Amino acid sequence: MLKFRDKKPKVENELEPVTQMLPIESRERILEQVYEFMELEHLYESAIREVKTKLEILDSEFKTKYDYNPIHHIEDRLKSPQSIMDKLQRKGMTFNSANARTTLNDIAGVRVICNYIEDIYSVAEFLTRQDDVTLIKTKDYIKNPKPNGYRSLHLVIETPVFLSDRKEIVNVEVQIRTIAMDFWASLEHQLKYKTDSEVSAELAEQLKECAETIAATDTKMQSIYQTLKAIN
Ligand code: GTP
Ligand code: MG
Repeated sequence: MLKFRDKKPKVENELEPVTQMLPIESRERILEQVYEFMELEHLYESAIREVKTKLEILDSEFKTKYDYNPIHHIEDRLKSPQSIMDKLQRKGMTFNSANARTTLNDIAGVRVICNYIEDIYSVAEFLTRQDDVTLIKTKDYIKNPKPNGYRSLHLVIETPVFLSDRKEIVNVEVQIRTIAMDFWASLEHQLKYKTDSEVSAELAEQLKECAETIAATDTKMQSIYQTLKAIN
């Protein structure tokens, strides 16, 4: 087998302008954390790719067999080290990669945007039925919307990632929603950053109404689509 040079000295060099100010013990500890987090990010990035590939294959299979795409599009995000640190701190845990792996379910996030409500449940079933996928947690905010009106199906799954010397089981948070639910969630997300509480309360009320309208529209659109399919 080819011999490879360890990347650590290169990273150490790149970080030197920052680390040279620190005492030697903290320098070593920080570098160790940086290496750990580089591996952690690679692992979760890989898990995202595995899950996205599974979803893309399901979608293209449907296109091939039924000339229909249940998935409109897929988004993903990797939690930043800063957010990992904040969340561990909130849970009263030390910031390190082992704690991040055991405590957090949402380092890797995949969001699946579907056309119709039924597509959400089909995609969830086809994904979790695969024999290398384990379903850890389900939160159905479609059947049980949040008080603010939020709707989506949330899954936490485990999927294997094959590395050069081992297999790692990695958890991924999958949020599945319709285009309309996603439209709503994007606007509601912006409301979270509003500081004026009077304005916020009024807007939150209006948004809640929008959520109900959107839910009714999603149901109606699906029924129209089904009727059309039955005719054609
Ligand atoms: P957290 O990740 O700490 O929120 O843990 P949790 O297990 O309580 O999360 P939950 O499954 O309820 O929600 C996780 C993610 O769903 C959030 O990070 C958001 O991306 C999304 N989400 C949940 N609730 C809302 C909401 O009310 N509005 C919007 N816009 N997004 C939400
Ligand atoms: Mg989260």
